[in-house]
Amino acid sequence: MNLPDLCQERNRAKTDIEFINIDLDIKPLFKGKKYFLRTYGCQMNVHDSEEIKYYLECLGFSSTNTLEDADIVVLNTCAIRENAKDKVYGYLGRCKHLKKEKKDLIICLAGCLMQEPHEIENLRKNHDYIDIIIGTHNLHELPKLIAKKKGMQQVEVYSNSDKVYENIRYSRDSKISAWINIAYGCDKFCTYCIVPYTRGRERSRKIENILEEVTYLKNKGYQEITLLGQNVNAYGKDLNLGYDFATLLEEVAKTGIPRLRFVTSHPWNFTDEMIDVIAKYPNIMPYIHLPIQSGSDAILKKMNRRYTISEYKALFEKIKSKIKNVAVTTDIIVGFPGETEEDFLKTLEIVDYCKFDGAYTFIFSKRMGTAAALMPDNTPLEEKEERLRRLNEVVNKYSLINNQKLLNQEVEVLVTEESEKGRNKVCGYTDTFKLVNIEGSKDLIGKIVKVKITEAKSFSLDGIALTEKVNN
Ligand code: SAH
Ligand code: SF4
Ligand code: F3S
Repeated sequence: MNLPDLCQERNRAKTDIEFINIDLDIKPLFKGKKYFLRTYGCQMNVHDSEEIKYYLECLGFSSTNTLEDADIVVLNTCAIRENAKDKVYGYLGRCKHLKKEKKDLIICLAGCLMQEPHEIENLRKNHDYIDIIIGTHNLHELPKLIAKKKGMQQVEVYSNSDKVYENIRYSRDSKISAWINIAYGCDKFCTYCIVPYTRGRERSRKIENILEEVTYLKNKGYQEITLLGQNVNAYGKDLNLGYDFATLLEEVAKTGIPRLRFVTSHPWNFTDEMIDVIAKYPNIMPYIHLPIQSGSDAILKKMNRRYTISEYKALFEKIKSKIKNVAVTTDIIVGFPGETEEDFLKTLEIVDYCKFDGAYTFIFSKRMGTAAALMPDNTPLEEKEERLRRLNEVVNKYSLINNQKLLNQEVEVLVTEESEKGRNKVCGYTDTFKLVNIEGSKDLIGKIVKVKITEAKSFSLDGIALTEKVNN
């Protein structure tokens, strides 16, 4: 696959790209002051928090893990399920209390929950001790808002965005493994999901900007990159420049970054080209997170997932047969409105069929403004909880069985951190994204090492470090 000649771009992109140069504007007005940052939600938010951290650090703040020591508290919120919201409001109680003793404390809320108009209304009316509310589309305005803190609540939230900002800087959590956004937003409108409302329409970054970021990180010594999008399959479609996710994957793989990952793949429109590229490049990790959500066609239809179980199975088989040693994980929702016991049994059936390496399982949570929130839902919560328990039993059984296949095997692990300080224990992930706790020195951190697996549990493996990978 060749990159199209970008100079001869015939179809202009709908997406408006804006290059920002934020660090020139920021003055370190808060030297010696501390920030406390909590992140809820998915990898998108984790990565957004790396952007927030960059701004806070430019302003002169340094990090603290003790809420009471903070001069600014930033909560980067998630709206995906009601319990994500409850956690934030729980924390706000502590912040409110703290602010009574510490009048200068700045309290700031960011993230997906801030994109919900009814939440902002509530925060405006009932939580006037909150200083700054910022949305997901304009994080780069945060330093300005903090610097100009006015003594009254400042709300800067855009309801939607057509923009992609380039030149964003991050204070990354890791020097080994990095996130890279490839696309923002989502246009799929699964009926249960709030993300299209909180993150806006699907818009891709241009391939040359992504490759520039990959090369920069690789030159800085990063060993692993994870490409981030709510639905990576859709990458490039909005740009209409003649390239897609398969092209991007291949070009990133060719940079020679030791490990390349991506999340999340939608089972709809997962192309043969994507599978071929993943199979072809050894530095593209054999790990695919492929959310299935339900085993029942009737429920999938109500969810607007755009695939049937037989289509999912066909894709699953293709992935398993073409990509050597691939691990597949999934997401499943139980108790979607109208889900019957028969529908649920079909979910257990597909789990039995696919024997996933792992699954994130959730009880349906009604999100205001989504289509599913209006669907009749007569199943009692206790029954949904019981379905979740039954599902987890099966899911955990297969995680353990898959992990046990690695007993006494040698696997390659990218060691990322110490797991028990000062006790010769480090940890990291296999190519198939399984967590391994390793007996070995902290000198291994940042390296890809061969590890012999000595114990397999449902959620992690234990092993002993053998040698460092030769070509590392
Ligand atoms: N873009 C990704 C995932 C987004 S959210 C994708 O499409 O796969 C991660 C998971 O949260 C979803 O896969 C789904 O299983 C779950 N989820 C989303 N909305 C939910 C809701 N309203 N109730 C329960 N689970 C939900
Ligand atoms: Fe939500 Fe569906 Fe988009 Fe994923 S693909 S973010 S589940 S709407
Ligand atoms: Fe939550 Fe927003 Fe991610 S709603 S799951 S933080 S995109």
